[in-house]
Amino acid sequence: MSKTVLVTGGTGFIGNCFCKLLLTERPDWNVINVDVCTYAANIHTIDEELKNERYKFYKVDIRDREAIFDIFEKECPNIVVNFAAESHVDRSIFDPESFLNTNIIGTSVLMDACRKFGIERFHQVSTDEVYGDLPLDRPDLFFTEETPLHTSSPYSTSKASADLLVLSYFRTYNLPVTISRCSNNYGPYQFPEKLIPLMISKALKDEPLPVYGEGLNVRDWLYVEDHCRGILAILEKGRVGEIYNLGGHNERNNLYIVKRILKELNKPESLITHVADRHGHDQRYAIDPHKANVELNWDPTTTFEEGIVKTINWYLSSYGQNWLEECLKTTEEWMKKNYNNRK
Ligand code: NAD
Ligand code: TYD
Repeated sequence: MSKTVLVTGGTGFIGNCFCKLLLTERPDWNVINVDVCTYAANIHTIDEELKNERYKFYKVDIRDREAIFDIFEKECPNIVVNFAAESHVDRSIFDPESFLNTNIIGTSVLMDACRKFGIERFHQVSTDEVYGDLPLDRPDLFFTEETPLHTSSPYSTSKASADLLVLSYFRTYNLPVTISRCSNNYGPYQFPEKLIPLMISKALKDEPLPVYGEGLNVRDWLYVEDHCRGILAILEKGRVGEIYNLGGHNERNNLYIVKRILKELNKPESLITHVADRHGHDQRYAIDPHKANVELNWDPTTTFEEGIVKTINWYLSSYGQNWLEECLKTTEEWMKKNYNNRK
């Protein structure tokens, strides 16, 4: 049956992958992308989608109540999937307020529009970072949906706050919500300020690769398309009011990731430069995806080896092209601010 899905943050890394998935795998669904296009969005990301007659783009801020309500009135979405967010932990350490504004207030505006105009589902894209971190010496521990919220950074705190707000709209207003909490994503079109695309870009330019602290922090890496398939499964098979953890049992420490990238690009490990650690740096994230696996029959299908090679090849082919060069130019000032004082 035909559906109209309103995707916020659809010009960003994961939101765009989700739009692509809907347009190819749900041929009678329409996709509305609402994105204000912050520094983290490059308009060329949606070049292909803009040619599709089932896709529409509104350059609108999710905090703009009037504009959001107008879009709901005009487009009558059946489903809303909220990806729009300030998403970089390091930036949240410099500027918490913009994270609180977009990630919490923006989410409430969207849900108010859902209440007013009616909706089959509001899905909130959240993160495993809401659970805080796990110790490196307890590999037997994993985050489940029951793990208490225990955030470390302004970013994760803003996401956890939004999650609580979403659950409160379920309980108080009976809004049909679901939440997914996902581990670290990687893949094409990721803005080159996050670990994997930053390290690939630096290696391609033979510049030092800035590893925070000893580089032993662990993340559970998931290929972006697997994440998006998990969200689609939640929309189609998930129970309202529920939270689903999405992760790949694919833990690697940062040094492993950086060395793997250097090996693939045939660059020397001498490019690795240890810099001062991130304040409040989370040690380890590791998701137990059992619930999504049993209830939704969801499992990641891309191995880390396949995914990292695909990702590196995508950045290799983007090297010197508009998308990557423009993104790197955008990050120049940020690089000075975040990295210059690090030793
Ligand atoms: P991203 O930074 O690449 O994209 C975010 C998008 O949101 C951008 O296009 C930006 O322009 C848009 N946006 C920001 N503020 C907005 C506003 N006020 N109004 C409208 N649009 C706005 O982020 P991403 O990596 O694609 O992450 C998407 C979502 O997934 C986020 O909610 C993030 O918290 C969550 N998440 C990300 C990861 C990850 O590893 N990247 C892991 C788990 C969860
Ligand atoms: P990041 O991609 O920012 O994701 P998150 O902090 O949300 O997990 O960082 C992933 C890991 O890589 C994290 O442990 C911090 C580390 N890191 C570096 O060592 N150097 C860098 O330049 C960046 C951006 C991250």
